[in-house]
Amino acid sequence: MTSPQQGHAALLAAVVERAPKAELHVHVEGTLQPELAFTIARRNGIELPWSSPEALARASPFSDLQSFLDVYYAAAAVLRTEEDFHDLAWDYLCGARRDNVVRAEIFFDPQMHTARGIPFETVVGGLSRAIDRGRRELGLSAALILCFLRHLPEADGIETLERALPFRDRFIGVGLDSGERGNPPEKFRDLFARCRRAGLHCVAHAGEEGPPAFITGALDALGAERIDHGVRCLEDDAVVARLVRERIPLTVCPLSNVRLRVFDSLATHNLSRLLAAGLKASIHSDDPAYFGGSINEAYIASVGAMPLTAAAAHRLLRNSLESAFWEPSEAAPHLDRLEVVFAEAGLETG
Ligand code: ADE
Ligand code: ZN
Repeated sequence: MTSPQQGHAALLAAVVERAPKAELHVHVEGTLQPELAFTIARRNGIELPWSSPEALARASPFSDLQSFLDVYYAAAAVLRTEEDFHDLAWDYLCGARRDNVVRAEIFFDPQMHTARGIPFETVVGGLSRAIDRGRRELGLSAALILCFLRHLPEADGIETLERALPFRDRFIGVGLDSGERGNPPEKFRDLFARCRRAGLHCVAHAGEEGPPAFITGALDALGAERIDHGVRCLEDDAVVARLVRERIPLTVCPLSNVRLRVFDSLATHNLSRLLAAGLKASIHSDDPAYFGGSINEAYIASVGAMPLTAAAAHRLLRNSLESAFWEPSEAAPHLDRLEVVFAEAGLETG
């Protein structure tokens, strides 16, 4: 027998699966499925440090962010040609379409590749070809966000920006990722000032493993318009009050947070408390090939394990659509459709 609670959870899972959503926190290199990594390695004549896709899939559990990044960088070393970058992004976009993602703002880490001698043009060429194809063939709106690796010096980021600016029309913004510990946002003040002058949107990972002061730093030193993760903000009431007042979106990745031991389990994740505090949070996948699932799997697992009402799930989905860097006119039909999906299921949206 199914209890009324189980029935409600199953209905909510079906609704979040069907609902239109925006994916605003996904690293394209973190979408590299083990099978595709081995296919690309074979065609490029590269030896991976794992014996099989299954062995790569077993590289988790990770003990923290750095232990994951070591695997992530090693697997991405198979990517060499424009075709490789195209195939990677295309594989992600096809899955995103199945998950009813209507807008994807996709991070890429060019320094990972240029450091191995791959031209910036090869990386951005392959990724943007997949994005154009996704718009044409899947009807999916997508864009790229260039992330700087924060464990590298700011000068390296500035050199990367200079290489990237001739391709300015291929990406809409910049972000900051990689190991947060010991790498505060202030390290990249000049770099982000240059990015803002180039008219780029700015986002930054902060408050994942780093303290709430890194969230403040991302806002003040970098001009971040969204905070990626940000879950540690609840440790500082003044930071929460500011994020609420300024309506700064938090792109939260619950599956990632559990796999990287930021939280012990989904049941103890603070997402429902972030929403209760009035924060503009939404759910994303981060590195779906490594953390146990796509954006829909993250939504379904979250509504199954956390104290999230239908109204909270609706809020998360709405926040995702409202937090994307797209024209309100592009968002409008999807916001309307979200209302229809919840209304048809007879779910309260608060
Ligand atoms: N790069 C890929 N995933 C990341 C994460 N969760 N945090 C920081 N950098 C990343
Ligand atoms: Zn991330």
